[in-house]
Amino acid sequence: MTWNLDTHLARTGTEPDPHTGALAPPIHTASTYARDSDGNPGAFVYSRLSNPTRQQFEEALALAEGGRRAMGFSSGMTAAMTICQALDPGDHVILPHDIYFGVRTLIANHFVRWGLEVTEVDQRDLNAVQEALKPTTRLVWVETPSNPQLNVIDIRAMARLTHSAGAQLLVDNTWSTPLITRPIELGADIVLHSVTKYLGGHSDVLGGALVFAKEDERCQRVVELSGEGGAVLDPFGAWLAMRGMRSLGPRLRHQCESALRIAKWLSAHSQVESVNYPGLASHPGHEIARSQMALYGGMLSFLVKGGAANALRVVNRSHLFANATSLGGTESLMEHRASIEGKGSPTPDNLLRVSVGLEHAEDLMADLDQALSA
Ligand SMILES: Cc1ncc(COP(=O)(O)O)c(C=O)c1O
Repeated sequence: MTWNLDTHLARTGTEPDPHTGALAPPIHTASTYARDSDGNPGAFVYSRLSNPTRQQFEEALALAEGGRRAMGFSSGMTAAMTICQALDPGDHVILPHDIYFGVRTLIANHFVRWGLEVTEVDQRDLNAVQEALKPTTRLVWVETPSNPQLNVIDIRAMARLTHSAGAQLLVDNTWSTPLITRPIELGADIVLHSVTKYLGGHSDVLGGALVFAKEDERCQRVVELSGEGGAVLDPFGAWLAMRGMRSLGPRLRHQCESALRIAKWLSAHSQVESVNYPGLASHPGHEIARSQMALYGGMLSFLVKGGAANALRVVNRSHLFANATSLGGTESLMEHRASIEGKGSPTPDNLLRVSVGLEHAEDLMADLDQALSA
């Protein structure tokens, strides 16, 4: 029988435990596993290499993303770091010009020194992407919608271009999750997640993941780097991630519904210059979003009239949006990204990024209204 993704997600880790019948998975904290009398290992050897709780999470995520193999990491950034480590000096990588700044910083500060060559491109312009491709290009990195400006990138077109150059396409699907966007079905080779965000969903776990469409050479290198280096998701983190995945459907649907209402309402607000949300018909990427997103996401950003000082005032006057970094939890967050990203940030200095939580949309709009109108 074929199930809907919601059903798979709701059942994450709920198969009865063979030893106890428990419907919530046990947390296997063992670091090592017994061999038989001939010295042969069983299914598990040592938890750096693989762990039953982590494996349960990895199998659930691979299924949700339609990939062949998933690997859990200790953070989204260790997932990003490991994929870079699986490239060789001299390899060329194309990054989007609007990307989670942590990834840009990590690559610029550390992997360029290792010998990776990097070009940043506005991937909304496919000709610019085509021109940036080189014979040495091995990886094209896409983030859609992008953080924090919510640019929408055409995954199908990027896959075509990337593959024509013999490179692989990685899509950071943290903001969308497989419930909204299915990058592997659209042609991506690798999907990256910060599990810390919507998959965990409660701002209480730090984790990351890579999902591979095929068990190819790059996947094998990542398996080796993960097992030999050990930047893996811990068992309790894997357990929390599975618990989050079970409620992802209803949580994210509610957040998307509220985000759309808030984005429309903000667009008409006298103190708002513009709103970035792919669900708005006026968003330049709306048509692409319609073709590759089932919903438009729980994230939005908007530009406040009156510059950075006014934007910061709005953050400080809000009661319901915590002024904190991160996203995808049950609580709403609002952040002045340019301050966080620091000098050289390409983010407009009057931009506020919002992660819409599970509070009632009307309360969130009332709170924003008082914060904007003061
Ligand atoms: C799109 C995206 N990718 C990756 C990361 C990094 O994940 P983590 O904080 O789990 O290391 C983040 C964090 O904000 C993110 O927003």
